[in-house]
Amino acid sequence: MVIMSYTYTSSVPEYVGKKVKLRGWIYRKRTSGGILFLVIRDRTGIVQAAAKKDSIDKRSWDAAEKATIESSIELSGTVKKDERAPTGFEVSVDSFKLTGLSEPFPITEYQSTELLLDKRHLWLRSMKMISIMKARSYIFRYLREFHDKKGFYEITPPLITSVAGETGADMFKVDYFGQEAFLTESSQPYAEAMVYALEKVYSFAPSFRAEKSRTTKHLAEYWHLEMEAAHYNLKKLMDFEERMVGSVAQKLADKNQDILAQLGVDPALLKKIKPPFKRLTYEQAIDLLNQKGKSLKWGDDLGVEEEKLLTEEEDKPVFVMYWPKELKPFYSPINPKDPRTTLSVDLQAPHGHGEIIGASERVWKYDELMDRFHEVEAAKGVKFNIKNYEWYIDLRRYGSVPHAGFGLGTERLIKWLLNLDHIRDAIPFPRMVNRIAP
Ligand code: 4AD
Ligand code: MG
Repeated sequence: MVIMSYTYTSSVPEYVGKKVKLRGWIYRKRTSGGILFLVIRDRTGIVQAAAKKDSIDKRSWDAAEKATIESSIELSGTVKKDERAPTGFEVSVDSFKLTGLSEPFPITEYQSTELLLDKRHLWLRSMKMISIMKARSYIFRYLREFHDKKGFYEITPPLITSVAGETGADMFKVDYFGQEAFLTESSQPYAEAMVYALEKVYSFAPSFRAEKSRTTKHLAEYWHLEMEAAHYNLKKLMDFEERMVGSVAQKLADKNQDILAQLGVDPALLKKIKPPFKRLTYEQAIDLLNQKGKSLKWGDDLGVEEEKLLTEEEDKPVFVMYWPKELKPFYSPINPKDPRTTLSVDLQAPHGHGEIIGASERVWKYDELMDRFHEVEAAKGVKFNIKNYEWYIDLRRYGSVPHAGFGLGTERLIKWLLNLDHIRDAIPFPRMVNRIAP
């Protein structure tokens, strides 16, 4: 006896006139004159199956009749073309098995956003979420491919840390065997340590932010791609960033047209995203915004409105370079050509999707690092717990080298590339100020 293997619904068109075996979930169901029309969903898509009462065995018929929306099933049958079916093909069922009967599915056609978030574990089966999660997986893959091709090693930083950022204020505290610890807000210090061993490294890891921002761009837990490289300067970082973002957009447009079509994203817009990206200094950005009606002064940060105004007419991201030292952390070095500023650069996504990458050269000399600590302490009125930074400072004691790196918020990138309304849809189980379940 030939044991048939299972076919995905997307391959069904290749089997016209032949038999297939499918497994999946009931997506739609209706009945018409002794025929059950069952639309079957699997990870590749959907296909219609038709079960006729008088041409299948009683057990199969009873199971098909009993099957509810989202029940898991297996069936076999013969493929034929049928213009009336949703995909133009139909499987005439000859045997049907119910694997897991579903209770009445709590998500029906029109549901509130809140319910869809409460039932996220079930809503992930929707066509929209399936497409986004596939795109997310490909985007992660393309980002990895880019780094791998450039000879970077992937590293795995710790997520529980004693490094309290600047103040620990926006960090989640953890009771670590009686000692105060934090969930990491950035893997950068660890990536910097590994630069002295592997020279070119990157990590994909969650970062945690306890800031109570209720915006469409903030998550309390997000996946952070962080890159760190020895002997890189700001120019080399920017070249790297624009090539990386460009390559992801190009690959998505070339290889994932089916997913983009499901999400209503025009690949032609993605094809436009390639180097070079516009490069503004912070000062030029402020001037530009003031020409557009703002009244910003030196030292002001860019908020949601400014980001939108700066990028609303852009098809490609925009670099903003040389931020005032008051706006950047201690690890951003002073710009020797303008000591009011730092060797730092942010990448702003078009149409107000916000900052997707934060980057800088790093203070790599011991004395300069200590100066920057004290400067930031004085400027912000904070007190660093230098003891927790001892190991980080050590890196500048034993054969330090110039290096630079960046952090990219993967959900921000996904939100922009797929033109999503809210960052929560770029991650399967969003963590936000008012949400930790499911
Ligand atoms: O600008 P940030 O805070 O920079 C750092 O953490 C650096 N230490 C990174 C580095 O140089 N290795 O964060 C980097 C990026 C931002 O540009 C943004 O895309 C994303 O992380 N990000 C967030 N994404 C989602 N939700 C939040 N609450 C985010 N905060 C930052
Ligand atoms: Mg930033």
